[in-house]
Amino acid sequence: MAERTLILIKPDGINRNLIGTILARFEGEGLKILALKMFKFTKGGAENFYAMHREKPFFEELTSWMSSQPIVAAILESENAISKVRDIVGATNPAEARQGTIRALYGTSVGQNVVHASDSQEAYEKEVRIVFPEGIEHF
Ligand code: RTP
Ligand code: MG
Repeated sequence: MAERTLILIKPDGINRNLIGTILARFEGEGLKILALKMFKFTKGGAENFYAMHREKPFFEELTSWMSSQPIVAAILESENAISKVRDIVGATNPAEARQGTIRALYGTSVGQNVVHASDSQEAYEKEVRIVFPEGIEHF
């Protein structure tokens, strides 16, 4: 059954002109782009998005960075989209990411790892409500 996931192209991906490259990679791997937007998180929006990390030492840096400038969000669809996209994105630390993954190719540090991808159905549903508060019923 077709499944959906959400990705963000983080500030380092935007700043290094990787929007087209990253979207083309997902399309090339069989993901359908169902929704796409460029937007800027409020600080509170970024905190809500990453709320599971509220107690972590990197929370303040992460949420300030993610709300510092416009970024890109996309809803992607395919069979097993959540795990498939996590595989294409690679491990959190680019230095540990499998060769050929987006983070191995373009990431420069744990904090600057180019993309976010939902890690579960529950995370996807929460993230979509935050990033697309207008709803996606019309897609
Ligand atoms: P994401 O949520 O962005 O897709 O990344 P992820 O699942 O691979 O990693 P997660 O554990 O959810 O961490 C979220 C993001 O926080 C930043 N981080 N910094 N300085 C650090 O030790 C550290 N650890 C995590 C990363 O940008 C990571 O993607
Ligand atoms: Mg995560």
